[in-house]
Amino acid sequence: MRVVGTRPELAAARASSSGTVAVVMTMGALHEGHAALLRTARAEADTVLLTIFVNPLQFGPNEDFDRYPRTMDADLALARSIGVDVAFTPPREVMYPHGEPVVRVNPGPAGELYEGASRPGFFHGVLTVVNKLFQLTRPDVAYFGEKDYQQLGLIRAMARDFDLPIDVRGVPTVREADGLALSSRNRYLAPAERSAALTLSRALRAGASAAAEGADAVAAGLAVFAETPEVKLDYLVLTDPLLGPAPAHGPARLLTAAWVGATRLIDNVEVQLP
Ligand code: PAF
Repeated sequence: MRVVGTRPELAAARASSSGTVAVVMTMGALHEGHAALLRTARAEADTVLLTIFVNPLQFGPNEDFDRYPRTMDADLALARSIGVDVAFTPPREVMYPHGEPVVRVNPGPAGELYEGASRPGFFHGVLTVVNKLFQLTRPDVAYFGEKDYQQLGLIRAMARDFDLPIDVRGVPTVREADGLALSSRNRYLAPAERSAALTLSRALRAGASAAAEGADAVAAGLAVFAETPEVKLDYLVLTDPLLGPAPAHGPARLLTAAWVGATRLIDNVEVQLP
C-alpha cells in the first residue's frame, strides 16, 4: 500500500492505477463499518483508494474537531490488511492550500433538514470536501455508509446534478451484536452512556416493526426514547427512501439523532409500510 500526503504523489499514484478505481473517503478512526466499505471496494474494483482527512469545514464552532479521534497508525494497518492500494492522508494545507474555501457546494433544501438543521453548514462542508476529493482522486466508483443516510443521499444528488461520472454506492450499516451502529464517536461513550446509546437502535427497531404492522413508527420509537430520559432526542422522522415526505405504503426510512451525554449519535433503518 502506498501512503501519500501531497497532490503530486496522489496524482502519480492515480495515473498508475489500472481498471476500475474505487474511493472510500473517511475521517480516520476506522472501525468495522469503514472496513466493510473497504472490503466491498476491494471485492468490486481493481484499484482501491482510501482517503483519511478530518475535514475542519464540516465541524461547527462548538463541535468536536479538536478531540475527534486520530488513530493514523491503526487506520493504515487496517487498510493494509484489507489490501487497499493507496491511502491519501493530506494535511490541512494540502486540502486547503488557499485557506478556507470561499466557494462551497450548496446542498440545497434537503441539506437544511435533519442533520443540516441541527448542524448549520455541516453539509456545505461535507459536500465541498467530497467534491474536492472526487476531483483529486477521479474515481469510477465511491462507497459511503448508509449509517450517514442523509449524507449518502446528498452525495448522490451532487454527483447527479454536477454530472460527475462517478457511481456512488451505499453500504449497509455495521452494528455491534446488541444493535449499536458503529461510529467513530462511540469511543467517547462512558460505559453507562454506551448502554444508554442502545436507545437509538431500539427505538428504530420498535418503529420499524410497528410500521410493518400498520402502526405509527414515530410514536413507537418515541415510546422507547421516553424510557431513557437521559438520552436527549434531537429528531426521529419517517421519510421516503429519498428523504421526502413519508409515503403511505412501501419502502420508507426511519432516521434519528440524539445526544448521549456530550456525544451526538445518529442512526437509521429501512422500513416497509404495508
Ligand atoms: O462520513 C465521513 O466520514 C465524512 O463526512 C466524509 C464523507 C469523509 C467527508 O469528510
